[in-house]
Formats: sequence, structure tokens, C-alpha cells
Amino acid sequence: MSDAASLGNAGACVFDAYGTLFDFAAAADRCRDDLGDKADELNILWRAKQLQYTWLRSLMGEYVEFWQITGDALDYAMESLGIEDAALRRKLMDLYLKLDTFPEIEDMLARLKDGGMKTAILSNGSPDMLKSAVEGAQLGELLDAVISVDSLRIYKPHPSVYQLAVDALDVPADRICFMSSNAWDANGAAAFGFQVVWCNRYAQKSERLPGEPVHMITTLAELPALLDL
Ligand code: LAC
Repeated sequence: MSDAASLGNAGACVFDAYGTLFDFAAAADRCRDDLGDKADELNILWRAKQLQYTWLRSLMGEYVEFWQITGDALDYAMESLGIEDAALRRKLMDLYLKLDTFPEIEDMLARLKDGGMKTAILSNGSPDMLKSAVEGAQLGELLDAVISVDSLRIYKPHPSVYQLAVDALDVPADRICFMSSNAWDANGAAAFGFQVVWCNRYAQKSERLPGEPVHMITTLAELPALLDL
């Protein structure tokens, strides 16, 4: 990673959704009264299982949409923590449809749009989940495209997923600037050929995987300056 690397020729900015624009921890956070001291553990296990199931199902050739994966992962996490509560499960899933954005997102996207940049989401999320999240956060006007893996029936980091953004935006891969807070997604996108900015919100270590982000930042508020916007 080099601070000097230029993103000056970027023709589009493409964002991962969960963990990058939308705070998946907000669901468990809003249920602290119900979850008590299990809230953080549930959040971590739920997310970890959700991602594992995307990778495992992709390897198995057994695609189901992200909404089902999210529910299956929640069931696993709740059972692991000894929580049996159908109403709480419904509440958590419902909250997942209207997650908070991280605080800088709206201003950052507005700045990119003011600078004439194309913007999009490229996410594992099913189309309905993404629609609900984008509408709930009122980001629709600030995004040119919301792209789901669902049409391909395979999950990130399969290279064909990143190709979806090239095709949808009609911008070549090396002029797409891709942002993710998931280190493995950042690597996957860089290996595909995007210019990647890893938004390392969670102070993760670098993955030992192919692909190297050109920048690492800690919030997306730092992005417009990298693009000279
Ligand atoms: C997504 C997951 C990886 O939005 O966060 O694609």
C-alpha cells in the first residue's frame, strides 16, 4: 500500500454494503435490552457465520440468497449462545433491513456526486435487502447503481461478481475505485483488477491473500481527498 498511489483516473466509485456503508452491528446494538451481555458476541458470531456461509455455499454450488444466509447464520449464533426467542429473531432480522449508515456516508457520497463521480453499491445483499437499506438511509439519489450478486448466484470474492460492476457502469476495471471494510473483499477486488481503498474500520490485519489495496483509510470521510474531490 502506498499513500502516493493516484486514484486520479477513477471513473466510478463502487462500495461494498455491509460493514462499509451500513453498520451491521446496529441490529444487535438496538437489542441490547433483550440480549444483555451477549449482544457483542452475537453480533460477531452472526457476521462471521454469515460470511462463512457465503463462501461455503459458493464452493458447494448451493446458492441461496443473502437473506436466507443471514437468517441461517442468526439461527446458528442464537443457538450457540443459548438464546431461544422467536420474537427476538424476528426483531433482529427486521432491523437488518434498516441498518444505520456510518456517520460520514451521506456527506461523502454527496461530495463524490458533486465532483461528477459515478457511484454504486456492489454487494452480496439480495436485491430486496439492498433496496430496503438504501431507501431507509435515503441514499437513492446519491447512487447510480445498486448491484447485487443475486443475478449470478455466487458470492464475493468470485471474480465474476466484480465484473458485474464493470458491465453495469461501463467503466473498465482499472478505472473503478472499490471500497470495502472487509479485508478479504478488498483483496478479492484488487486481485480482480480494481483500484482498491480498504476502509479498515475494524483495525483488521492485512489478509495473506492475492490482491493489494492501493490505500488504507479508517473512515470513508478520507476518500474524496484521495480522489482530489
Ligand atoms: C457485502 C458484504 C460482503 O455487502 O459486506 O457484500
